[in-house]
Amino acid sequence: MSVNSGASKESVTFTDNSTGKSFNFPLLPGTMGPKVIDTRALYGETGHFTYDPGYTSTGSCESKITFIDGDKGVLLHRGYPIDQLAEHSDHLEVCHLLLKGELPTASEKEKFEDGIRRHTMVHEQINYFYRGFRRDAHPMAVMCGVVGALSAFYHDSLDINDPQQRMIASFRLIAKMPTIAAWAYKYAIGQPFIYPRNDLSFAENFLHMMFATPCEPYNVSPVLAKAMDRILILHADHEQNASTSTVRLAGSSGANPYACIAAGIASLWGPAHGGANEAVLTMLTQIGRKDRIPEFIAKAKDKNDPFRLMGFGHRVYKNYDPRATVMQKTCHEVLDDLGVRDEPLLELAMELERIALEDPYFVERKLYPNVDFYSGIIFRAMGIPVSLFTALFAVARTVGWVSQWNEMISDPEQKIGRPRQLYTGATPRDYVPLHARG
Ligand code: SDX
Repeated sequence: MSVNSGASKESVTFTDNSTGKSFNFPLLPGTMGPKVIDTRALYGETGHFTYDPGYTSTGSCESKITFIDGDKGVLLHRGYPIDQLAEHSDHLEVCHLLLKGELPTASEKEKFEDGIRRHTMVHEQINYFYRGFRRDAHPMAVMCGVVGALSAFYHDSLDINDPQQRMIASFRLIAKMPTIAAWAYKYAIGQPFIYPRNDLSFAENFLHMMFATPCEPYNVSPVLAKAMDRILILHADHEQNASTSTVRLAGSSGANPYACIAAGIASLWGPAHGGANEAVLTMLTQIGRKDRIPEFIAKAKDKNDPFRLMGFGHRVYKNYDPRATVMQKTCHEVLDDLGVRDEPLLELAMELERIALEDPYFVERKLYPNVDFYSGIIFRAMGIPVSLFTALFAVARTVGWVSQWNEMISDPEQKIGRPRQLYTGATPRDYVPLHARG
């Protein structure tokens, strides 16, 4: 993939005041969004590095998968708006779209679904990994361990230079994540593992593995299955976020796909990222009552207090996260369908949102609810334990991770990612023997 296949004549020029020299770098346009200054030759020409901790102004790659306009609150997957996909599509169809670039035809969809369905079981030996964990291990610790171990079982899909093996590994990861996550839950509560079933949809299978027992038939609620499927769509991919960038960086060294996805799971676990959905529920429970909201808003605004309003703010969205809009709507639908009237946490979350969005601190910083603000309330209403929220996010995001990983590995210009630094440490000094160190 040649960066910006369309030739560009535009460029930016800057003068290095320390030498008086001027430099010219190409300005590359995409199909949408900001142009990029191609700085690949910058160090060679100027002897300087760029400096952008947190990558607030840095494009790490070219991609055709997901586009975000943070100012307008727009999220497109291969050009399709997230609200339309959430309304009309289903998770496996979105998986096909992300992985292969197009919505499937009817026959392609049936073949793709069958391909995923045939990889939902895990090697029987993997069953024993769980017993190495304490029952109270966090499910994300289990996910990191078990997913990282998959490469020890699937040697026929480790050659990353073979597109067919890459696709088999991608199918295996998408298909097995729900099984691995559901079994982490079953292990934690001491119930027997429930095997996947080929007569159920992706979302139905996950809920069945979570809540069925061998003692009696378990019929998955169509309402909860539909809500789960929509939530999986909303979390599927999101451009170059922290966990996706982790997967790309791990993959750039040639690491196998299972190791790369395990790295992505580890990064997603952080409360500033995917761990926020669990942190929102903890925060709402801690706030407890509407009359305590001002106290926590004040904490969130206090620079001396590390507390942040979880589920609020986003590096890219400086408008309402379009996924949060759909998530809030889904929250009301699920609670209504479950006959859960006046869920206090939802009432509290909506009041917290109302107050925050009227507060100059949040308005000036363009801090809006993000995808994590309402998701936990839905998960809790569905009977999913708080500790499993981020594992669910990982189940959904796996298709985004493997799609971005495939895009990177199949790029003929791909090379290992190796950032530099601004060094501010000690200048050269001679070794001081122990006896002379005072
Ligand atoms: C996800 O990248 C992605 O796409 C991620 C994700 C995905 O799908 O992959 O969308 C999923 O991770 C969503 C985000 C979930 N995290 C949270 O909800 C945690 C709470 N949010 C914050 O930690 C924060 O908003 C981040 C981490 C999400 C974004 O941080 P940034 O972009 O680095 O912003 P910042 O820390 O520079 O904040 C800018 C200002 C600061 O104040 P000032 O220094 O300007 O005075 O806004 C303040 C921050 O203190 N601020 C907040 C805040 N978020 C930012 N203040 C209070 N509460 C918050 N939540």
